[in-house]
Amino acid sequence: MSSKIFSASVTGLDAEIIEVEADIANGLPSFTIVGLPDKAVEEAKERVRSAVKNTGLEFPKTKITINLAPADVKKEGVGFDLPIAIALLAATGNLPQDLFEQMVIAGELGLNGVLRPIPGILPMALAAKKSGKKTLIVPYENAREAALVAGIQIFAPKNLGEFVLHLVGEKKMSEEENNDFIKDSDENRSEHIDFASISGQEHAKRALEIAAAGHHNILFSGPPGSGKTILAQALASILPRLNLDEALEVTQIYSIVGKLDADKPLLSIRPFRNPHHTASAISLVGGGTYPKPGEITLAHRGVLFLDEFPEFPRHVLEVLRQPLEGGVIHISRARESLRFPARFLLVAAKNPCPCGYYQDPDKPCVCSPTQILKYQKKISGPLLDRIDLHIEVPRLSYDKLTSRTGGESSADIRSRVEMARQIQQERFAKIKTGTNGEMDFRQVEAHCKLDEGNNKIMKHAVDSLHLSARAYHRILRVARTIADLEKSENIKESHLLEALQYRPRNSET
Ligand SMILES: Nc1ncnc2c1ncn2[C@@H]1O[C@H](COP(=O)(O)OP(=O)(O)O)[C@@H](O)[C@H]1O
Ligand SMILES: [Mg+2]
Repeated sequence: MSSKIFSASVTGLDAEIIEVEADIANGLPSFTIVGLPDKAVEEAKERVRSAVKNTGLEFPKTKITINLAPADVKKEGVGFDLPIAIALLAATGNLPQDLFEQMVIAGELGLNGVLRPIPGILPMALAAKKSGKKTLIVPYENAREAALVAGIQIFAPKNLGEFVLHLVGEKKMSEEENNDFIKDSDENRSEHIDFASISGQEHAKRALEIAAAGHHNILFSGPPGSGKTILAQALASILPRLNLDEALEVTQIYSIVGKLDADKPLLSIRPFRNPHHTASAISLVGGGTYPKPGEITLAHRGVLFLDEFPEFPRHVLEVLRQPLEGGVIHISRARESLRFPARFLLVAAKNPCPCGYYQDPDKPCVCSPTQILKYQKKISGPLLDRIDLHIEVPRLSYDKLTSRTGGESSADIRSRVEMARQIQQERFAKIKTGTNGEMDFRQVEAHCKLDEGNNKIMKHAVDSLHLSARAYHRILRVARTIADLEKSENIKESHLLEALQYRPRNSET
């Protein structure tokens, strides 16, 4: 006898429907799984055997073959345990075959039959819905995540026995309710650092507001302890809220790496990722035998903070250029090429020199001029070109640090940021670019027109500061955002003069 059950498997960020076929034939007892299973799928045999027996059901003592189709898709992970168990029970005639036409099943089994949560449930639910299936069965702890997808029925048993009783109609389970709402995110923002808790550093705070408003990457430079890290952390608190589509997109990424909260699966706050410079290239950009998203994808629609920027290996930094330009990273494998989204706001921080105290008014620097130069040259020009805001962060005096005058709260700043984003949305309504920071040369020409007075200022700046064409465009992009923050249609002199302050100071232009 044979049977067919539908399950799903994650490839990249999406899931595919997989058919799990079981065939039971006469012959010596054996249990074989074919169809590109990985080691975890192979081991399903042992878990399924024990789980079925310990649930009090009969395990067939004949020749069992499980086929996972399509054969050319790699099957990964422990999520096939439950569909394999059900396929077996259906093939032995213990469950009616016609129950499974419209059903997608996924879940890991413990030896005692208990169902364990698995990663990737959200993409599986999306795939199930897309393929027109009506019902999705997931482990109990994955219920809320699955229920983020509207329009598909979710049942979430705690163990194999409960599910079998449901299937044979002895004890029906209740359906999970859809929960596709974003609670007002302010309650979720408590983990963020509020701008009001950072003393002084008005210049850096203003730059962060511009960065958030126009999606401009930012580089902080300053001695250790000056507050670069705390400033970067505060950025996430002033970024615009995620809308539901964006929240689902980010949640899908975290679903795949198994980093969702079972109770509150929908991520409604923007991610803040802070990988260390010793992290491997794969963990930063993504990849592996079964390619997984890296830090830059986990930072999608949020902040990627690279502290001690020059210490990152050069080849890793060079890989960042692609996502900084296109918002995606392509990962090529032997047989396939995967795309992971990676539209993040880059905040980089560096010390001015290896010891950290170059040009510090109080503490002497112990680096040689060659060391300083070498350190400053570590980041390549093309990469620096993608960073619009270059900000010096000086060490605060004790008085300033302890004065705690606070200043504006993150919520106030965020409302200006959201207003400026609205203006940009209208400006770029017809094209892919969403923000000023992502404008290419042509768009800069179109949207950053200068009047005669401003032209003169720019001409003077280009001549006297020897600005490159790239630097020129960078300044205009920033000026556009400053104007938007003031709801000004035209770039005014004050906007341009402020934008000029954020260009890099030394060697690089
Ligand atoms: N402007 C500030 N207001 C409040 N706390 C600050 C400020 N600057 C620095 N700190 C505190 O000083 C410590 C060092 O700051 P940090 O951001 O780690 O500096 P850096 O990253 O530049 O080395 C942190 O505990 C931070 O909370
Ligand atoms: Mg730091």
